[in-house]
Amino acid sequence: MKTTAQIRQSYLDFFHSKGHQVVASSSLVPDNDPTLLFTNAGMNQFKNVFLGLEKRPYTRATTAQRCVRAGGKHNDLENVGYTARHHTFFEMLGNFSFGDYFKQDAIHYGWEFLTSPQWLGLPKERLWVTVYETDDEAYNIWHKEIGIPAERIIRIGDNKGAPYASDNFWQMGDTGPCGPCTEIFYDHGDHIWGGPPGSPEEDGDRYIEIWNIVFMQFNRHADGTMEKLPKPSVDTGMGLERISAVLQHVNSNYDIDIFKTLIAKVAELTGEKDLANKSLRVIADHIRSCAYLIADGVVPSNEGRGYVLRRIIRRAVRHGHLLGATEAFFYKLVPTLIDVMAEAGEEVKKQQATVEKFLRLEEEQFARTLERGLTLLDEALANVKENVLSGEVAFKLYDTYGFPLDLTADVCRERGIAIDEVGFEREMELQRVRAQSASQFGMDYNSVIRVDGTTRFEGYTESETLAKVTALFHEGNPVESISAGQSAVVILDNTPFYAESGGQIGDIGRLEGNGFCFDVKDTQKYGQVFGHIGELTQGSLSVGQSVNAVVDDVRRQRISLNHSATHLLHAALRQVLGEHVAQKGSLVSDTLLRFDFAQHEAISKAQLAEVERIVNQQVRANNPIQTDIMELEAAKAKGAMALFGEKYSEQVRVLTMGDFSIELCGGIHAKRTGDIGLFKIVTETAVAAGIRRIEAITGETAIEWLQHQQTLLNQSAELLKSDVNSVTDKISLLQDKYKKVEKELQTLKEKAALQAGNDLAKSAVEINGVSVIVQQLDGIEAKSLRAMVDSLKNQLGSAVVVFASALDEKVNLIVGVTQDLTAKVKAGELVNLMAQQVGGKGGGRPDMAMAGGTEPQNINKALSVCSDWLKANL
Ligand code: ALA
Repeated sequence: MKTTAQIRQSYLDFFHSKGHQVVASSSLVPDNDPTLLFTNAGMNQFKNVFLGLEKRPYTRATTAQRCVRAGGKHNDLENVGYTARHHTFFEMLGNFSFGDYFKQDAIHYGWEFLTSPQWLGLPKERLWVTVYETDDEAYNIWHKEIGIPAERIIRIGDNKGAPYASDNFWQMGDTGPCGPCTEIFYDHGDHIWGGPPGSPEEDGDRYIEIWNIVFMQFNRHADGTMEKLPKPSVDTGMGLERISAVLQHVNSNYDIDIFKTLIAKVAELTGEKDLANKSLRVIADHIRSCAYLIADGVVPSNEGRGYVLRRIIRRAVRHGHLLGATEAFFYKLVPTLIDVMAEAGEEVKKQQATVEKFLRLEEEQFARTLERGLTLLDEALANVKENVLSGEVAFKLYDTYGFPLDLTADVCRERGIAIDEVGFEREMELQRVRAQSASQFGMDYNSVIRVDGTTRFEGYTESETLAKVTALFHEGNPVESISAGQSAVVILDNTPFYAESGGQIGDIGRLEGNGFCFDVKDTQKYGQVFGHIGELTQGSLSVGQSVNAVVDDVRRQRISLNHSATHLLHAALRQVLGEHVAQKGSLVSDTLLRFDFAQHEAISKAQLAEVERIVNQQVRANNPIQTDIMELEAAKAKGAMALFGEKYSEQVRVLTMGDFSIELCGGIHAKRTGDIGLFKIVTETAVAAGIRRIEAITGETAIEWLQHQQTLLNQSAELLKSDVNSVTDKISLLQDKYKKVEKELQTLKEKAALQAGNDLAKSAVEINGVSVIVQQLDGIEAKSLRAMVDSLKNQLGSAVVVFASALDEKVNLIVGVTQDLTAKVKAGELVNLMAQQVGGKGGGRPDMAMAGGTEPQNINKALSVCSDWLKANL
C-alpha cells in the first residue's frame, strides 16, 4: 500500500516523465495578488502565466501545492470535523499546460496515471466522469478514445444559478483565469450511501471527486465579462488526501496514514481515549494549516490573514479544552507533523522554532482570555432578559475574548438560555464590512489597469532613459491623452523608475519632453507593467509619445543606502540573536529603513549595540555589493537567503556583500558597503507578539541625526550649567535635591494645616445646640484634611466637622462626627449627599467619611446642602 508521501512523489515522477518541469510549491501567502487571501489552488502561482503576463522557460509544469481554504471564495473552515474530507489545509497535485497541450493530452495523462498498473492502477470500472454540459469535445475523448461507457459520463450545466456558475466550470475567484472542467470521480462502493454526481444523492460519501481538469480559456473581469486567454491552457488539481484515501482503502480522509498518526498524537497529548472523537480530527486538521501558515510568514493578529490564522488556532485550542487538555498542547504536534509530511515537511522544519513559539504564545494568550471571557459571560448570564443572551455580548465574547460562538452557546445551554444569533450575525456583518474596508482584498487591479506587454526595467544601471508612453489612465480609465493639471498613471515601454516592491518604495522624478512635464510622485507595478503615478504640470501628453524619464537620483541614492544597510542588518541580527531571525516585513525609504523580524525575547541594549557595531564594521570593510543573475537552485545552493511570501522566478538576482551577506533581492543597492557611511539604529520596539521592529538610518541622515542629538546634549548641559560628561551626575543630584525639598514642603504644609485647624476651632457655630464647623479649605491634601478633622474632634469634644477642598481640579470632601452624635449624623451618609453635588460618590464610617468629586465649581452647592441637612437633622 502506497503511503501519502509515495503518492505525492509518483505523481511528480509521472508528469516529469511526460516532459513537465517539477516546480516547488509556492507560499501560502500569494505573491502580489490582492484578490487572494491564501493560496487555494495549484494554479495560483501560475496566474500571470495563464494570463500571458509572465513567461516561464517551460510550457508544462507539475506541482504538489500546499493550499489553505479558510477564508475568501473557497472556505471550508466551518465544515472541518463534520465531513470526511473537508480540510483547512490540503495538498493539491497538479499538472499545467501553458498553451502547450490541451483537452486530449490532459485527459489521456489523467487516465494513464490513475489506471495504469505501473502507476496507481485503479480499477477502471470504479471511475466516473463529468463534463461541462456543452463540452462535446471532452465528452468524445472520454467516450470514444478512453472508452468510458456513456452511463458513466455525466454532463453538468450551469447548476449554480448563473451563466458559467457550475460544478463543471472552475474559476479561481471572482476574477482571473477560468474555464470549463471535467472531473473524475471514484466510486467507493455500494456499502456507502450516496449517488453519482448530478443525482439527488450526490452529497453522499460514495462517489467522491478526486481530480479536476480545467480547460483554462478565459480571464473573468469584475464586471462579468470573459476575455479569451492568449492560449488555451490546462490546470488540474487532485486532492492528495482524497487520492490517498482511495489507495489506502479508507472512506474518510481522516483515516489515511498522515491523519492516523496525527490523531494518535493528539489523543496522547490530551488523554482522549475515543479515537473517533470529532475534536481529534479538528485538531489534526488545524495543526497543518496553522503550522504552514506561520512557516510561510503569517503571524496571528486581528486582521486579514493573521486573523484567519488566529481563529483556526483558537478553534483548535478550544477543541483541546473540550478534550480536557490542561496546558498548552497544540505546538507539541509540530514534530509529528514534520515527520508525517515527509518531503513537504521541510518547509515547516526550517521554521520549527518559530512555528512552535507562535503556536504556544497564542495558545497561552487565549487561555488567559478564556478565563476572563467566562467571567464576563457569567455576569451577563446573571442579568439576562427573557432567557436570551444578546448578540452584542456573544459578539463581544467572540471579538474581544476570542470566544467562538459555539463555546458561548455551550455554556448558555447548560442554563437553559439561548443566544440572539441574528444579533450576533448583524455584529459580525458590521465587523466584516469594517474588515473589508480596512483591507484591500477583493480589489481588482486587473479591471483598473490592464495593459498587455511589459515594461523593461532599466533602473539597475540607469537613472534616466528615453521611453515611449504605451498607455495612460486617468481616474482609473484608459485615455488617449492628458492635459496640464490632470493626474494620471503613465505606462512606459521601458523605465528607470523602480516600482514599489520587496519593501522598497517607488521612485519619484519626472517625465519630460518638448513643452510638457509630468511630475512622478510614485511608481507601482501592475502585472508586468510599471505605472508612473503623478500629475502633468505642463503641456499635454499622449499615448505613443516619447518622453525622457528622469528619476530623482538624490532620493534614490538615499533609498539604495537604506536598502543595502537592511541586508547588513538582517545578517548581523542573525549573527547576534540567532538563525531564527526571519524577516517579517520591511520598508526601505529615503528617510529610514524599517525591519520587522521574528524574535520572541526582548533585545538587550548590549545586543543592539553589538548589531550596530557589526553593521558599521561591514560598512568600513567597504566590500563591493555584487549582483549576479543565476538559477534559483544555484542561488539556494550558494546559501542565499530567500524571503518568505516572496515568489521568485527561475532566474533570480543574488546580492552579495563580502562573505557577510548573500540574499535574493530585486531592489536597488549601493555600489560598495562603504557608501552607507554610517548606520544608526534609532528605535527598537515590539509590533506584535513575537515580532520586533528596528528602525535605522544611514548616510547623511544618520550624521544629521547624530548632530541633532549632540545639540540636544549641549543644550541640556548648558541648562544644567555643567559640561556634557557630567550631565547624568548633575541630573541625579538635582533629582535627589528635588525629593528632599518636596518632603520638606509637605511637612510644612501639614504644620500650617494643623495651625489653621486650631484657628478653625474658634469658628465653630452652634446648630440646635451642637458645635458645627463647615468650611472650604482649598489646596490641602486628603491626608492633612483627615488629621485636621481628628484634631478638631478632640479639641471640641462634641462636634460635626465638615471640610471641602479643591485641589488640582479635584474635590476632596471629609465629614467627622464625634461618637456621641453618630446616632443623629452618619458621616458616610452626609458625605455622600455632598459628593453628589460635585460629581462624585463616597461613604465611610459613621464617625469619619471621605469622598471625592470632579466639579470644584460646585463646592458651594455641596456646602449649602450640608448646612441645610444639618439644620434639618440635628
Ligand atoms: N484549479 C482547479 C481546482 O482547484 C484544478 O480544482
